[in-house]
Amino acid sequence: MRDRSIWRCQQCGFASPKPGTCPDCKRVTGELAVLVEERQGGPSAGRRAVTGTSRPRPLVDIATERVERVRTEIGELDRVLGGGIVPGSLVLIGGDPGIGKSTLLLQVARALAAAAPPVLYVSGEESAAQVRLRAERLGIGGDGLLLWAENDLAVVQAELDAVKPQALVIDSIQTVFLPELESAPGSVAQVRECGARLMSLAKGRGMATFLVGHVTKEGALAGPRVLEHLVDTVLYFEGEQHHAYRILRAVKNRFGSTNEIGVFQMAERGLLEVKNPSSFFLAERPKDAPGSVIVPGLEGTRPLLFELQALVSSASFGTPRRTVLGTDYNRVCLLLAVLEKRAGVPLGAQDVFVNVAGGGRVVEPAADLGIVLAAASSYLDRAVRGEVVVVGEVGLTGEVRAVTGLETRLREAAALGFKEAVVPQTNLAEHPRLPLDVHGVATVQAALDAVLG
Ligand code: TYD
Ligand code: MG
Repeated sequence: MRDRSIWRCQQCGFASPKPGTCPDCKRVTGELAVLVEERQGGPSAGRRAVTGTSRPRPLVDIATERVERVRTEIGELDRVLGGGIVPGSLVLIGGDPGIGKSTLLLQVARALAAAAPPVLYVSGEESAAQVRLRAERLGIGGDGLLLWAENDLAVVQAELDAVKPQALVIDSIQTVFLPELESAPGSVAQVRECGARLMSLAKGRGMATFLVGHVTKEGALAGPRVLEHLVDTVLYFEGEQHHAYRILRAVKNRFGSTNEIGVFQMAERGLLEVKNPSSFFLAERPKDAPGSVIVPGLEGTRPLLFELQALVSSASFGTPRRTVLGTDYNRVCLLLAVLEKRAGVPLGAQDVFVNVAGGGRVVEPAADLGIVLAAASSYLDRAVRGEVVVVGEVGLTGEVRAVTGLETRLREAAALGFKEAVVPQTNLAEHPRLPLDVHGVATVQAALDAVLG
């Protein structure tokens, strides 16, 4: 390949032969993203991997192998991975800064060092002494676990033959670099090439490899989505910084399902598994409080439960107020009108406040029925029964309409300990078996009767 430059968008990976700004990002987000120069040439490990020794073979001649897995003995993680870590697999763990990724991986490294030593933990973010301090806090001894504060991936690669680690942790992919590339660590080119290099190392050596990836404020793994395509497994570590519970979620898994979640609690001495997430989750929300409804939402393909709250109180004077946080104002006004007209709940002289608890945000119509029931529950001052989730789109005639991904939503609710669900009647035909006890409702009135009657 000739030695020349291309210009690449650091957000989406778009490449252009000329400098300028990214047309895709401008169209999608309205923001200008400046393209960054990347030198081409110098064969990369990813491209060099093609050797010509393998040939296409008939499907029937290919031997099936049972995937051997190494259990980390951290049950919540093993579950999300699909029953343990597959040797030679590349796992990306994304999450906000400070959420606990380094803590989790240090605990994983310890567990793997006990099961299959040695394990090499490469920290590009903290000094070895800092990691050691953290390890002491977590009560981690040194057996089989090697620490290394190093950013140069070529240096790490050169050492692998001497160390022969069974597992490798790179904390984080945005802080390591390959010296032969001219871009800075964290740029799309570096992240992509480092990812590709680690992929071939992991596969070539049968060495399980974990990568830590930072998440940008928009919620995507920093800059390049290229990593997500490359790796075998993508896990997100999520939670509110000011709450103790953390959820580990598989968003891609070549060796297992993406429906499993793992729940942890950040404690004094590291992350503890939460074996019974329902009780933990339920402990956070008000019990038997009128105006509170749990809705199983779906973000893209990712299920997410949230609590909708409504407060209805009589307006003291003038036009009643509608205040909406975390969801669409006009939609709420429409739903309140439906509630009044179709179910006879008089809200004309009431102030109504609607909020998604915990600072969440929801815009999908599947939350309609939750909003309606939360408002009715608050008006009637009658609580929704404890372990029920509510989902459905509401139309102007008061009908409850089908939602997408019902099974995914309810599986998440079941995983978090819910027992019952109020769902659109029309959804039931396509789902003969669902993981919860379901009540199909065709109208808002029927939903009110089912939940508050
Ligand atoms: P960390 O693993 O450094 O997060 P990340 O690598 O995702 O940036 O965790 C940081 C937070 O976790 C920090 O605010 C302190 C807290 N923490 C505990 O509460 N208990 C512990 O035992 C440890 C090690 C950290
Ligand atoms: Mg960290």
